[in-house]
Amino acid sequence: MSTFNVELKKVVDDSYEIEIGYELGQKLIDDIKSGLVGKINKFAVVTDSIVKDLYAEKIYNLLIQNGYKSDLIVFPEGEKSKTRETKEFIEDSMLAKGYHRDCCIIAVGGGVVTDIAGFVAGTYGRGVPFINYATTLLAAADASVGGKTAVDTPLATNLIGLFNQPKKVYIDISTWKTLPQRQVSSGLAETIKHACISSREFFDYILNNMDAIFENNDEVCQHIAHENCKVKYHVVMKDERESGLREILNLGHTVGRAIETVSEYKLLHGEALSIGLIAEVKLANKLGYCTDEDETLLIKALEKAKLPVKIPDYIDREELVKKLYTDKKVKNGQLRFVLQKGIGDIMVFDGEQYAKPISEEMAREIIMAME
Ligand code: GLY
Repeated sequence: MSTFNVELKKVVDDSYEIEIGYELGQKLIDDIKSGLVGKINKFAVVTDSIVKDLYAEKIYNLLIQNGYKSDLIVFPEGEKSKTRETKEFIEDSMLAKGYHRDCCIIAVGGGVVTDIAGFVAGTYGRGVPFINYATTLLAAADASVGGKTAVDTPLATNLIGLFNQPKKVYIDISTWKTLPQRQVSSGLAETIKHACISSREFFDYILNNMDAIFENNDEVCQHIAHENCKVKYHVVMKDERESGLREILNLGHTVGRAIETVSEYKLLHGEALSIGLIAEVKLANKLGYCTDEDETLLIKALEKAKLPVKIPDYIDREELVKKLYTDKKVKNGQLRFVLQKGIGDIMVFDGEQYAKPISEEMAREIIMAME
């Protein structure tokens, strides 16, 4: 018998730039010409049925005008499309159009598009590069940065996926002007979450500038785009694979993701997160990490962001409690929650733990007592 040792120690540099600005299509082309993805000249532009007409077609046309090969791959908009079937559809479309490993995927859209396109890129031909061009506040605040890519399953959201970092992220603030109010609000939920875990000053800024955000004020939108990126990349740079610190980005998500699935995606991600943030601030209050004032202030911010603050009547609360167990933080069958410390800070438990085990009884009590 023989034994061989296959040594494969790796040093990987997955660093990338996030560029925040207005109408960044030409900048994307200039970066490609300057070697952003080496000598690749074939680009699959993946987008959804709404963003296609608004922005993706423009990027596709720019690629063609500049001599690149490109195809638009379009799937129906919405979280319901974030499935293995859509991934297969994108892959089959690329295969049919002759895409090999020497290609790059450009995701143009919101969180559903960047999550699914990044996942396709991670497995297509065992991995091709991808670029995110974020066209929603939610994608700008969260989904497009940090390399979490995934699809949902009927059991729960984001259960199948990869950590896969893009080559670059473009955050085009000019696209926010075409967002319906519900989508702006949905992105604001992730923004408020970032403030809750990192900065009371940022929280107050959001609260005091809510009207300006909805009016698409340039200065305010740029500020929130910068602050969101800052929170996100600081965490991701320290713990890309969520072995510790990155769990804090899950504030509100234990209940939020569960309610999103139980609602059968009638609630947008940020709408479900809003309810999750309230459940989890109530839990933090019960445990003495937050005050009644913190709880009231957070609910006020979410209301001002035009987000739901009550569990809709159609949600079966017992099913919601059961669904909490699909959360990725569950360890040894025990629910674990990230808990905020006041507003702008997060609880750290023994041995640098960022999530605390919570009994099902306590979680149920909070959920049952909510409006
Ligand atoms: N959306 C949470 C994270 O990126 O870790």
